[in-house]
Amino acid sequence: MRFTSTAILSALAIPLIAHAAAPAPKPAPAPVPAPAPATAPATAGPSANSGPVTWADFLTSCQTAGQIALTYSEGPSEATMEMLETLKDAQAKVTFFANATWLQYMQYAGITRHAYLDGHLIGMTYRLPSDTSTGRTDEELKQDVARASRTIQDLIGVYPRYMKVHESNLKDARLLNLIKSMGYTLVGFNLDEYDYKYNTAETAGQIGEVYNAMFTKQNEAYGRKASYVVAGYDVPSTGAAVGLPKVINTISAHGYDMVRLDGCVNDKTPYKKDPILNNGFMGDAMSFGAAEYKHGQVVVKAGGSQAANGGASKSASDDGTMKSAGSRVSVAVATLVVPALIAFLL
Ligand SMILES: *[C@@H]1O[C@H](CO)[C@@H](O)[C@H](O)[C@H]1NC(C)=O
Repeated sequence: MRFTSTAILSALAIPLIAHAAAPAPKPAPAPVPAPAPATAPATAGPSANSGPVTWADFLTSCQTAGQIALTYSEGPSEATMEMLETLKDAQAKVTFFANATWLQYMQYAGITRHAYLDGHLIGMTYRLPSDTSTGRTDEELKQDVARASRTIQDLIGVYPRYMKVHESNLKDARLLNLIKSMGYTLVGFNLDEYDYKYNTAETAGQIGEVYNAMFTKQNEAYGRKASYVVAGYDVPSTGAAVGLPKVINTISAHGYDMVRLDGCVNDKTPYKKDPILNNGFMGDAMSFGAAEYKHGQVVVKAGGSQAANGGASKSASDDGTMKSAGSRVSVAVATLVVPALIAFLL
């Protein structure tokens, strides 16, 4: 080993420093509009990327009836950490769209790395600086997208292919066309789990009811299963983490199969070879079709693993609020980042 114990010890000190400089708790995401088509008028101009973009350009369902792909954006966060525990218990895989900004903080970077190593698909979120592409060249926009992509690649070794564009940019046809031309897959949804609405410990159970109602209506109307791409937010200001055990059990009760987005569209190469160039895609050991690819789920205890192991996250449900989520960060740092860091260094 090239690393002395001193080096490891000083590395161990970093999470504590990073924790001290941790960002303020995340704000609630803006409510998502219904899946309205992002039709924007074609604008004449020097850019070749000016055609209209509609909801049809987004991935909004799976290729196989009976599949359901849970996706979460705006993380990583303390909520992601709690969700990873529940998903591990359920042996279920989902897709996380990482916000590269948060990966500058070691505790959040550790969570995304943990999610990747647990076999979840990592995509990326993108939002234009100042929310407008006006005044920026195509090349500048591509470089900004690539910067976020490289931050994720630095952490997990692969460039994301699946992208969630921030709601405020969904009408920007030039941006969306540029992103498409770079080879990214724009991801939409056909089921909104409303976790930003059911965002307290008391109401998070309603999220499962959203699924239940959708599956039931589908079955009554057509007598067969549909497929779903679900939009959720893995931040503590939503009920996504608290509601997840019931969501998984509802999915199981209706006989649906949980998949990552690559499994949803039979994509063996869910990562890009290059953050800018559209020069091909690649898979890894956990991609659809590969040896370690997993889908499906098992029923979990309501209340999730945190109730069973008496961990720090238990307090969030004990006191009936979710505002204690912030205090979970230090536990996450101690239990996750430090061992991950040691493993990384060795
Ligand atoms: C990522 O998070 C930062 C900080 O909250 C925010 O300013 C930015 O808009 C987010 N990016 C995306 C792509 O959502």
